[in-house]
Amino acid sequence: MTVENLVKTIHAKVGDAPVRLGLVLGSGLGHLAEAVQGTAIPYDDLPGFPHAGVSGHNPKLVIGDLEGIRVAVFGGRAHYYEGGRGDAMRRPLEVLKALGAERLILTNAAGSMRPDIPPGELMLLEDHINFSGLNPLIGEPTDARFVPMTEAYDRGMIADLERAAGFEAITLERGVYAWYSGPSFETPAEIRAIKMLGGDAVGMSTVPEVILARFLGLKVAAISNITNMAAGMSDESISHEHTKAMAPMGSEKLERILRRYLQGLS
Ligand code: HPA
Repeated sequence: MTVENLVKTIHAKVGDAPVRLGLVLGSGLGHLAEAVQGTAIPYDDLPGFPHAGVSGHNPKLVIGDLEGIRVAVFGGRAHYYEGGRGDAMRRPLEVLKALGAERLILTNAAGSMRPDIPPGELMLLEDHINFSGLNPLIGEPTDARFVPMTEAYDRGMIADLERAAGFEAITLERGVYAWYSGPSFETPAEIRAIKMLGGDAVGMSTVPEVILARFLGLKVAAISNITNMAAGMSDESISHEHTKAMAPMGSEKLERILRRYLQGLS
């Protein structure tokens, strides 16, 4: 279905008031969609949206108000590792833009390489390393594909999110996120390599969405919910079950920061 028709379908369900901000929820954070007073549309009713098949995600689009701001919350995402498509989130993000949004906040679960950002903490992305070598814009025929990524993470949003965290007395370190394709976790040697290259946290998402968002002209910020120390950095075993079990520790803080941030937008 075209972006135009998807927008018509969505407007028919939720009205046509413009959305101001999009929020993509990562592993174990899907329940944040329930915080929004609004209408939920299952991805299955939106052709071109992913059939998000990862447990701990909540595959629906919720449009409504959070702290008086009209938001579109994506309760789940498609990952590259699910079907080998780097652009799996392109249509949802195109729709977000067409609904009127100017800003996007991405969230994810990630492993930390920084002992000062242990599990249970959040990390604000200031930059990323595309360790996968993939790109969601491969095949895009227009010159718009040459997207500058120098300040991919919006400086104003970073400052505002830091201020919101400060108000809530929540520690929010800045760091560099490295995208690893998954679905297997990294080896300890890979983690040592990523660390040497300047990565602070590692995960299996977000980077393709940042590239797509910049391509679409959306301002973007991203927050990692640190669920474990990366491979080889602690004795704890790494698993998706562990990620989901740990996610609630950070998600409560994340919700407080997001609410504060949205209050500042009104
Ligand atoms: N590696 C990649 N993705 C992750 C991790 C990790 O250690 N933890 C949560 N998501």
